[in-house]
Amino acid sequence: MPENHPVDVVVVGGGIIGLSLAWRLRERGMSVTVLERDEAGGATSRVAAGMLAPVTEVEFGEAGRRVLELGLRSARMWPRFAAQLTEASGMEVALLQTSTLLLARDEDEARELERQLAFRESLGLRVARLRPSAARELEPALAPTLRLALEVPDDHAVDPRVVLAALRRACQASGVQLREQTRVRAVELDAAGERAVGVLLEGGEPVRAREVVLAAGPWTREIGGLPPGAGVPVRPVKGQILRLRDPEGPGLIARVLRFEGGYLLPRGDGRYVLGATMEERGFELRPTAGGVYELLRDTRNLVPGISELEIEELSVGLRPSTPDNAPAIGRGALAGLTWATGHHRNGILLAPLTAELVAGLLDSRARESSENDLLAACDPARFSDTWAPGLSTARAAP
Ligand code: GLY
Repeated sequence: MPENHPVDVVVVGGGIIGLSLAWRLRERGMSVTVLERDEAGGATSRVAAGMLAPVTEVEFGEAGRRVLELGLRSARMWPRFAAQLTEASGMEVALLQTSTLLLARDEDEARELERQLAFRESLGLRVARLRPSAARELEPALAPTLRLALEVPDDHAVDPRVVLAALRRACQASGVQLREQTRVRAVELDAAGERAVGVLLEGGEPVRAREVVLAAGPWTREIGGLPPGAGVPVRPVKGQILRLRDPEGPGLIARVLRFEGGYLLPRGDGRYVLGATMEERGFELRPTAGGVYELLRDTRNLVPGISELEIEELSVGLRPSTPDNAPAIGRGALAGLTWATGHHRNGILLAPLTAELVAGLLDSRARESSENDLLAACDPARFSDTWAPGLSTARAAP
């Protein structure tokens, strides 16, 4: 059993958020332990396609605008994040600097695309309307039945599996203690029940820390021990996703394609990611014929050539989503506890920003965060009325 002297920070969750944060915290000189229930980077982050697409993903409504603000900021951080990660890990983390096309197959979808165009223009975002012939000049594999396209020039992509492998190496090289196959049962509170002092593992072992960060994605809600009103209601949103390969090599499409029901993302080397369903089915992870059929049917209408691709993998992931689908990043109602979860469809995009925001909050040398507007946009305390704890409170022995 490991020694149990307190570390500066214990991070619960070894996905892209937890590992990015751990790496950044070590850079600031803090001691960090990451606790991962399975294999680090082996769940949601591994299944993710890796779109860095704040403009394409923007949703109507106030929460959508908050996510856009966070996404634009994090997208600007990605090139430097990738370069630093490349240097720290010795592994090449390359961004796919391609634009994204939003596509309409029929009149109804074209009307919706016009609405989406007006919405993005009203927000001052760069989007261009393309006639079908212009879109097909850019992407000759698109079907002649295409009705309308929008080009979003600034939305790019990255391969999350490469990022995860590099983060793992950077964490290990910098001295992060990574404990895999280690499940957390509860947050541990001080004797007064007012401050988190660590976590309790499933077998009862305490892991004490000056600060606790919950970055366990959809599994965050299964962690008990929180007083009433101190939690964040994260739910899993299932996504089925295919990985395809063109035996002829690259060239079928060069840009990310988005359409009602999915997206097709080229890796640039003849591999493609075709995703993803959005299903509210709790923690159920079964791949289904219906899910795969719909993805293939919808994409084939737009890119008939995908029929020739080989299927390399079908995977299923769980997005961590809050009631307003905006993330919960920052300190909540309980002292000593910080949240970094609820990234919904944007976990890969928001990893650099989340890591920077949380590291800034936990760094005792930084007297005050200079990012108060951004932190207000993802304040975990906005859910304090709607959450009820699932498990009983765990107190530290006096
Ligand atoms: N970011 C795309 C998805 O969640 O499917």
